[in-house]
Amino acid sequence: MTHDGGSPSAGSVTGDWWDSAVIYQVYPRSFADGNGDGVGDLAGLIARLPYIASLGVDGIWMTPFQPSPQVDQGYDVSDYCGVDPLFGTMDEFDTLLELAHSLGLRVLLDVVPNHCSSAHPLFQQALAARPGSPERDMFHFVEGRSSAPGSASDLPPNNWQSVFGGRAWSRAVPGSATDTQWYLHLFSPGQPDWNWRNPAVGDYFESVLRFWFDKGVDGLRIDVAHGLFKADGLPDAPSATAVVDGLRANPLVSDQEDVHEVYRRWRTLAEKYQPHRLLVGEVNLEPARAARYTRADEMHQAFAFAFVKLGWDPAAWASVGAELEAARQLHGAAPSWALENHDIVRSVTRFGGGTKDGRELGLRRSRAALLALLGLPGAAYIYQGQELGLPEVDVPVEARVDPMWTRGGITRDGARVPLPWTAPPEANHGFSPATGQPGNPWLPQPEGWGRYAVETQQQNPGSTLALVTAAVGLRRQLWDQGVFTADDGGTWRVEDGNLLICERNAKFLVAVAMGTEAVRLPAGTVLASAAPLETDGWLQPDNAAWVLLD
Ligand code: GLC
Repeated sequence: MTHDGGSPSAGSVTGDWWDSAVIYQVYPRSFADGNGDGVGDLAGLIARLPYIASLGVDGIWMTPFQPSPQVDQGYDVSDYCGVDPLFGTMDEFDTLLELAHSLGLRVLLDVVPNHCSSAHPLFQQALAARPGSPERDMFHFVEGRSSAPGSASDLPPNNWQSVFGGRAWSRAVPGSATDTQWYLHLFSPGQPDWNWRNPAVGDYFESVLRFWFDKGVDGLRIDVAHGLFKADGLPDAPSATAVVDGLRANPLVSDQEDVHEVYRRWRTLAEKYQPHRLLVGEVNLEPARAARYTRADEMHQAFAFAFVKLGWDPAAWASVGAELEAARQLHGAAPSWALENHDIVRSVTRFGGGTKDGRELGLRRSRAALLALLGLPGAAYIYQGQELGLPEVDVPVEARVDPMWTRGGITRDGARVPLPWTAPPEANHGFSPATGQPGNPWLPQPEGWGRYAVETQQQNPGSTLALVTAAVGLRRQLWDQGVFTADDGGTWRVEDGNLLICERNAKFLVAVAMGTEAVRLPAGTVLASAAPLETDGWLQPDNAAWVLLD
């Protein structure tokens, strides 16, 4: 294992397993339901682990399953070191971890350090304690402002808006004349923000990390990793909406310099374990800022979300790719690629123009984009169902549960619909057990969902599932043969107006045809393509290829 302390050019390429990793994101509620209550759980996941292993991936990242009132589908944690009965028991988690390891799969968990649930005992103790107490100092409890003399604290302490819509502040004790404090919640009122300026918060999280690392968990995905610290004095934002935009680049609520000290501490801890534990951050910042979180003594990886916001536009992809590459050169860690997750509209729908009519086009593009992604230098993350080419579901309004919908009018439910495992007539498309009378899936599966079923795609060599499995296998071989190395950068360019190219090293490139006409591929051997090539050496629109250079 090579570690290069502070050398900026050496950065976070560590020679560890994760440099070449493909990680499969499991959203447990929607993956597989073991007990028939219509909500996915650990038993369901345990039963389907061999499926994940059959994809050839290196590990899974599980979104939260810890005890939670489920206001934000588990991102409101009331006990960081437990298992919510909705999902199962700690014994089941231990079984899951053991089985995953025996199948060669690493297990990453989600840690949510920016906020907890209002049901968390420490928040409950803070509510019960007096203003100014050490209990309240674990969170941001602040006196409000007054609209007029005598109307004490009837306005929140500042103008910050919640990411989910509405004020980022709620009264500690609504209507109380004696306790006039407000508490900060950048997300829903059920998710109070921790006060990271209080060292007790850092110590508490260190104990949480130790708990899971001691169990043998292989790493953590860090939720809202650029959050945590807020500007001293909690000043007003220049405009109320300025805080909302996904926390992006708002220096008042995110990307404060102090946050880096947290990840230095976590990195030191992660390296006390053998093998070292992986830290990957949800850092929703532009590439140059995000890269600062993967300096040699901080996290190992941060998701490169930059492509998620782009359409089918080769110049934009090349320019963002170049920006990410520049950031890599500055701080060393290769981008960790992801086109989908549980917060983002499915790529089939994004690339298909957002409508049902665009689905075929969207599917072609999403397959091409995924193949491209798997060939880029850096780890790749696949979100459950992406390997099936699932489109975004238009969940009926009355069935939507995302707090972002109720507070802000945007729903993420459409990317979270339970997976189809079997074609009809099995109940819930095989999401729930075939025996008994399973409850309805927690989000309704739309008509025709069975056509995307795992079972159907496993029998079809042209399926998206077959494409992904083959690409992940080939990626492994290319690593083993030394065609891919941890030192690869990415040189981005557009040829002939619409052929996007990322040249990974002197031996290999990825090409995506993003225009309306076929384009000639650079000279070499085509190792893989998202759709069969119609003419040797030419790539049809919306197809992608891996080329071994002559
Ligand atoms: C992250 C999660 C998202 C959640 C939010 C608040 O962005 O991915 O699902 O709502 O944090 O925890």
